[in-house]
Order: sequence, then structure tokens, then C-alpha cells
Amino acid sequence: MKIFTKVTDLNLELDLLRQQNKIIGFVPTMGALHDGHISLIKTCSEFNDITVVSIFVNPTQFNNANDLKNYPRNIDKDLSILKTTNTTILFFPENDEMYPEKDERVFKFDNLENILEGAFRPGHFNGVAQIVSKLFNIVKPNNAYFGQKDFQQLTIIKKLVTQLNLSINIVACETFRESDGLAMSSRNLLLSNEYRAVAPKIYKYLKDSALKIKNNSIEEIKKYVIENINSERLLKVEYFEIVNTETLNAVDNWDNNTPIIGCIAVFAGNIRLIDNIRYN
Ligand code: PAF
Repeated sequence: MKIFTKVTDLNLELDLLRQQNKIIGFVPTMGALHDGHISLIKTCSEFNDITVVSIFVNPTQFNNANDLKNYPRNIDKDLSILKTTNTTILFFPENDEMYPEKDERVFKFDNLENILEGAFRPGHFNGVAQIVSKLFNIVKPNNAYFGQKDFQQLTIIKKLVTQLNLSINIVACETFRESDGLAMSSRNLLLSNEYRAVAPKIYKYLKDSALKIKNNSIEEIKKYVIENINSERLLKVEYFEIVNTETLNAVDNWDNNTPIIGCIAVFAGNIRLIDNIRYN
């Protein structure tokens, strides 16, 4: 695995590989790598000649300074994990390399950036669009891999690629879960034992709701999930919405055909966890 911290050096290497007609796959991350990332990297390396992984904790997507400060960082551990994978190139830039100037760009995604996560994390998706557009512009991958846990991010990145006329195939990968069902996330590392023990209840009630949806209204399903998770000591639902998978607009009545997804954010103490469940 080659490690690059400078855009110019990475460009030289990637230009060379492109001249050799290598297919380039890309897995952007913010580090604190876990099995979910490893599975994205594995899929990427199966379908591409070159697997580029980036590690960069992007400040512009954090709307809360403490969240940015506390975001888990462990580059030594990440390096030893990456060495067990088929990663060809690691891009690990400093802030000044990614933001040589303040990024003033404002992205709009047909209001998608303002709902669900966007309503509670103002500016978050603008920051994601800023960094992902920069990374795509630098790496110019053929294929880029994203987890479905961040379903709204995935939807917005697909729109970003369309808006910018990029020839990048966005590959959506299944959410990777711990054996007790908790969706893998770098933030899980921040959970104390007490919170970690109760966090799998989030997915438990989401799964239950998928069994109930055929015989209950959307309103009843929402009530079921919210009330049950809130009844768990230590968990507090921030939002739970059932939305159309394409438009992310809230669905009030379900005709059984429209693809819908339940998206949730829950506080386990100070740690904010997100997850989702597809109903069809
Ligand atoms: O999903 C993430 O880890 C980040 O939002 C991403 C896509 C790497 C951009 O910083």
C-alpha cells in the first residue's frame, strides 16, 4: 500500500495507473475504520484493479465543534487494518491540503439537504458535498463505494454526481452490523459499556416494525418505534421518519408498492446514532 498526503503526488501516481487502463475504485472514509469499512474495501478490490481509500475527518460537515473534536481518530490502528486489506493507495491529507482556500460553495439538492439529518445537522450535507466533490475531482475513480447506513448521504452523493456530470458509478453497499444488530459506525467506539449494551435495541425495534408494517398504518409504525425506543433507559429518539426511497419525502399512507425506508437518529447519551430499515 502506498500512502500519499499531497494531491500532486497522488495525481502523478493515478495518472500513471490510468495510462495503464487500470480501473480505479474509491472508498472515502473519515478513519476509525471498522468491519463496515473493511467490507466496502473488499467489495471495491473485487471489482477494481486499484483500490484507493481516503482518510480525512472533514471539518466542514460537522455542525458541532465538540462533535468534530471528539470524532474518533486512530491512524496507527487504521494503518494496521488497511494492511490486512487489498488497499492499493491510501490518501491521508491534512486540512490545508483539502482546503487551501475557504470553500464557499453552496450545494442544493432539491431540498434533500434540509430534511431528516439535514434538519438536525444544518450545513452537514453541504460539507459532505464539498469534500466528496473535491475527493472525486482528485481521485477521478471509475467506481465509488458508500454504505447504506448513511442512506440520505448516498442519495445526495448520487445527485451530486449527476449535477456535476461526473462519470463515476456510485455503488451502494449493505449496512454492516455487529452480531447483536447494531449498525457499524465509527461513533460506536465512543459508547460506554452501558450505552453500548442498549444501542442494539434501535435495530431490534426497526426490525419489529418491518414485521408489523403490513397490518398497521404508517402512523402506528412510527408511534411503535419511537415509543419503544424512548422507553429504553438511556435512548432518546431524535427523529424517525418513513420516507420514499427516491424522494426522501415522508409517506403518510403506504400502497404496498412504493419503495419506502424508515430512517432514524437516536441519542445514546451524547452519542448520536443513525440507522434505517427498508420495508420492501
Ligand atoms: O461517510 C463518511 O464517512 C463521510 O461523510 C465521507 C463520505 C467520507 C465524507 O467525509
